[in-house]
Amino acid sequence: MSIERLSTGIKEFDNLVEGGIPRGFLVAVVGEPGTGKTIFCMSFINKGILEGDLNVYVTTEESRESIIKQAKQFGWNFDNAINNGKLIIIDALMGLSDDPWSLTSLDIEDLVNKIIEAKKTLGYGRARLVIDSLSAFWLDKPAMARKYSYVVKRVLSRWGFTILAVSQYAVTTSLGFGFGIEHIADGIIRFRRAVIGGELKRFVMVEKMRQTQHDLRMHEVDILSNIGLIIKRPTKYRREDLALPRDVVKKIIESEKKKQLELFFS
Ligand SMILES: Nc1ncnc2c1ncn2[C@@H]1O[C@H](COP(=O)(O)OP(=O)(O)OP(=O)(O)O)[C@@H](O)[C@H]1O
Ligand SMILES: [Mg+2]
Repeated sequence: MSIERLSTGIKEFDNLVEGGIPRGFLVAVVGEPGTGKTIFCMSFINKGILEGDLNVYVTTEESRESIIKQAKQFGWNFDNAINNGKLIIIDALMGLSDDPWSLTSLDIEDLVNKIIEAKKTLGYGRARLVIDSLSAFWLDKPAMARKYSYVVKRVLSRWGFTILAVSQYAVTTSLGFGFGIEHIADGIIRFRRAVIGGELKRFVMVEKMRQTQHDLRMHEVDILSNIGLIIKRPTKYRREDLALPRDVVKKIIESEKKKQLELFFS
C-alpha cells in the first residue's frame, strides 16, 4: 500500500522523507530561535494553498499581520488565500476579542475548539494545520506537554489534518520537546544553528518520521528573499561540533529539572 505524502513546498526537503509528510501525521518542528521553523511551516501552508488543500495556521509568537508580511517576502500570497476561503490564520498573540479568529488565552481546549470551528468554516477536504507554537500552551505547565500533544493529535487528526507543531527552547534533546511531544509526534524535524568561522549557519535534520526511510544526515539550510527556505548539501559537521559544551548542557539540564520538579509538585 502506498502512503499519501504531502509536499512541504521544499523539493530538497521532500527528498529527505520519501517525497513528503505522510497524510494525517503530527510532526514536531523544533529548534532554537531564528533557525527557520516558522518559515518552514509557512512553506508547508503555501504548498497547501497551491495544491487546493484547506489550511489553518495558528500563531502564538507573531501577529497575523506579521505572518502575512513575512510570507509576502517569499512571494506567498496569504491574503489571497484568506479571501478565497482556503486559509484561516488564528491569531493567539493579539488576543482581540472582536476578531472571530483570535484566541484570548493560551488554553488547549479553546485552541482545539477554535481549530475545529475553522475547519468547519473551510469545508470538507484534505487539510493542513500549523500550530506555531504548540509549546506556548504548556509554557507555565511543562508537565502537560505530553498530554496536550496527545489531545491535539487524537482530536485533530480525525478532522483530516496533517499537522506541523512547533516546539521551542531546544537547547538539548531532553529539553527541546518539553517532556513529551517527541514520543507522541509521528515525526521530528529538528532545526539548529551554529556560528562557524564567524558566520551564523542553520541546519536541519529529520530525527524521526514513522513509516519512512528518512535521510539521517544534517543538511545546511539557507533562507533567501523571494524564494524561502532552501536545503543545501549534507553538512560535514558532526552533531558534536554544533552542540553546546558538555558542562553547559549539564548545567542547563539540571536547572531545568529542578524547575520542572518544582512546578510539578507546586
Ligand atoms: N526576507 C528574508 N530574506 C532572508 N532571510 C530572512 C528573510 N526573512 C527572515 N529571514 C531570516 O529568517 C529568520 C527567521 O526565521 P523564522 O522566523 O522561521 O525563525 P524561527 O525558528 O521561527 O524563530 P522563533 O523561534 O524565534 O520563532 C530571520 O532571523 C532571518 O535570518
Ligand atoms: Mg517562529
